[in-house]
Amino acid sequence: MAGGVFVEDYRDGDEAAVLRIAGAALGEGYVDGVGPVLARPGAAVLVARDAPAGPALGFVWGWRLAPGALAAEHPELGPSPLPPALARADAAGRLALLKTIAVDPACRGRGIGPVLVQAFERRLRALGAATFLSPAWVHDDGVPVDRLLSGFGYRPWHRVPRLWRRGCEDGEFACPARRPGEGCCCDAVYYARAA
Ligand SMILES: CC(C)(COP(=O)(O)OP(=O)(O)OC[C@H]1O[C@@H](n2cnc3c(N)ncnc32)[C@H](O)[C@@H]1OP(=O)(O)O)[C@@H](O)C(=O)NCCC(=O)NCCS
Repeated sequence: MAGGVFVEDYRDGDEAAVLRIAGAALGEGYVDGVGPVLARPGAAVLVARDAPAGPALGFVWGWRLAPGALAAEHPELGPSPLPPALARADAAGRLALLKTIAVDPACRGRGIGPVLVQAFERRLRALGAATFLSPAWVHDDGVPVDRLLSGFGYRPWHRVPRLWRRGCEDGEFACPARRPGEGCCCDAVYYARAA
């Protein structure tokens, strides 16, 4: 617990709340289930609550990458060489991806995001990670997660234009930033936090 917020492992009964929060924050359909994340080796799915076993107010998930897996799992990063610290962490299997974080719109600004990041990093460090990457969403209003990640020492590293174009334009999810009649307008910026 920190600041009146409890962070616990995801449990089956959380799925409806997590999908609702994800839909409100990231667009309906962007997350269609937690099962594939839970099934990944080295994954953590953590949920913030006001009280133990209370309803989910926010969540974070991600995983530790297998040694040398970054290029194959993230071809969008392209062929350019990784910065040495990232390359070393990747080769050693000490790289973790903070993939998705979202807080219920009604509960934002209460410090839940920072508590989730802190708990996620603690968990992943216990699993052997030392260096963290996070693909941050960039839209017209900026990078929603910038101040949160910057506060923990993450820095923008690599921008990927229109990373989610296919899913957005194929209608797999309803991006809240997309304007009617127009195509995908969002980029991603990978943030990195060295050990
Ligand atoms: C981004 C998001 C998760 C932030 O969660 P939140 O609970 O509202 O976060 P808060 O506003 O309470 O805290 C963010 C703050 O963390 C602060 N912070 C950073 N490190 C901190 C630390 N170690 N301890 C305490 N606070 C810290 C930052 O200063 C920032 O505060 P500021 O905005 O006043 O400068 C939430 O706004 C959200 O769900 N947004 C939509 C979904 C989204 O965009 N997700 C990211 C997709 S890439």
